[in-house]
Order: sequence, then structure tokens, then C-alpha cells
Amino acid sequence: MDRDQLTEHLKFAGEIGVAGVSRDAAWRTRATGPTVGPTLPTAKAEMSAAPKPDAAPVTVFKNSVDALAAIRADIGDCTRCKLHTLGRTQVVFGVGNPNADLMFVGEAPGADEDEQGIPFIGRAGQLLTKIIEAIALTREDVYIANIIKCRPPQNRNPEPDEVATCEPFLFQQIDAIKPKIIVALGKYAAQTLLRTDTPISRLRGQQFDYRGSTLIPTFHPAYLLRNPSSKREVWDDMKLVKTLLTDF
Ligand code: URA
Repeated sequence: MDRDQLTEHLKFAGEIGVAGVSRDAAWRTRATGPTVGPTLPTAKAEMSAAPKPDAAPVTVFKNSVDALAAIRADIGDCTRCKLHTLGRTQVVFGVGNPNADLMFVGEAPGADEDEQGIPFIGRAGQLLTKIIEAIALTREDVYIANIIKCRPPQNRNPEPDEVATCEPFLFQQIDAIKPKIIVALGKYAAQTLLRTDTPISRLRGQQFDYRGSTLIPTFHPAYLLRNPSSKREVWDDMKLVKTLLTDF
């Protein structure tokens, strides 16, 4: 398939409602195993008929629900990093609207999340729910996930190898959902996603282009529980989020 044919093919796929096509290296790696999720027959046929040495398998999903289900199935009962040997109960994948315009990304599951398998369900999560409701949305309207999907022991910071192993799944979630806005909750999520050491106090108040979305860093709800006076800044950030959502 030459470039023009591929362009035409992708245009057609878009017209018939295909929501996601990924050439992400992480997808490519996993595509060497059994293909997960439906693949457009035409894409499959073309690929097997005329493989190019550098041609990457293209995984196409009809919608974000199918894409998220495939990502979840791919993660399985993950043993890819050492966290599965360090006391985690289960993978905490993500929760919410697969077509959300707004996505929140935190650091890692805590004890409550590890127990229930749902991100942001403990005290910090209850505050996050209030923050979401403050801009007239519900948890069901948005999507909530973390940089890493298993609880680190004693809630220590995720280690670089754990992030490197797990972060591609978050990227896949972002690419499936295609939110307009991503709110990075706290220093760790913001610095990790943006690949920076800049303090969260300087990152917040700014907007960043990120994987086709606008990323807004803000303070983590757990930080707000310890520093309630910073709620004012988070409210400013959420007002910006609301404005951007309305303007899109
Ligand atoms: N803190 C996070 O960063 N994520 C959660 O899911 C819960 C607490």
C-alpha cells in the first residue's frame, strides 16, 4: 500500500466511524502477539498481501469502548514489572466515560484504590469528585486514570522502570479516548507526562499541547487535603478547564 492509498484508506475508515488507528510503538510491540480487538478486514488483507519490511501492523478499533477493552485485556493480570511481587492486590485500570472530553491523570493507586480496583476512590478521590462536580460534571462524564496501574508499596513514588513499563498503557488510553483536556493531578503526574523537573507550583497556571489534547497541570487532591489554602489555585485551574471545554 503506497502513501496515497494509505491516506485514502484512513480517510475512508474515518468516514465509516472508525475511532482509532495507532502507530504507537507500544501498540506495535504488542501487535506481534495475538491481535486484540477487531481489525478492519481491508486493512488486514492489504497488510498480509503486501507486507513491507518497515510496515507496522495497524490496529483499528471501531470505537473507544472497544479500544479500551482491548487495552484492558492486553494488560491482563499484569506481571510486567516488580510491583506485582510487592503487595499490590489488582491492576487499577481507569474508570469513566470512554468518550470523555476531560480526563484526569493521577500518580498511582493508593490502598483504597488497590482494594476496590477503581482510581481515586479514597479520601483524595472524594475531593476529586467534588472538584469535578464544581464544574458541573460528574465522575461518569470524565475519565480517570493513573500514570501507573498498580499500587507501589507504602505509597512510595513509582520508580522509573515501573513508569517505563506502565506508561504506554496510559498513552493508549489517551489515544483511545482522545480527550480535549487532560488534567495532570499533582507534581508526579505533571512532571512525568511533561518530562520536566519544573515544580508543580510553576507548571500549574499553564497549558501544554499533549498528544493532541491540552494538558493542564494542577495540584493533587491529596496535597489539597494537607494544604486547603491551595484549593483557590485549583479552582482557578478548573475554571480554565471549563472555559476551554466550552470553547472547543
Ligand atoms: N492518588 C492517585 O494519584 N491516584 C489514585 O488513584 C488515588 C490516589
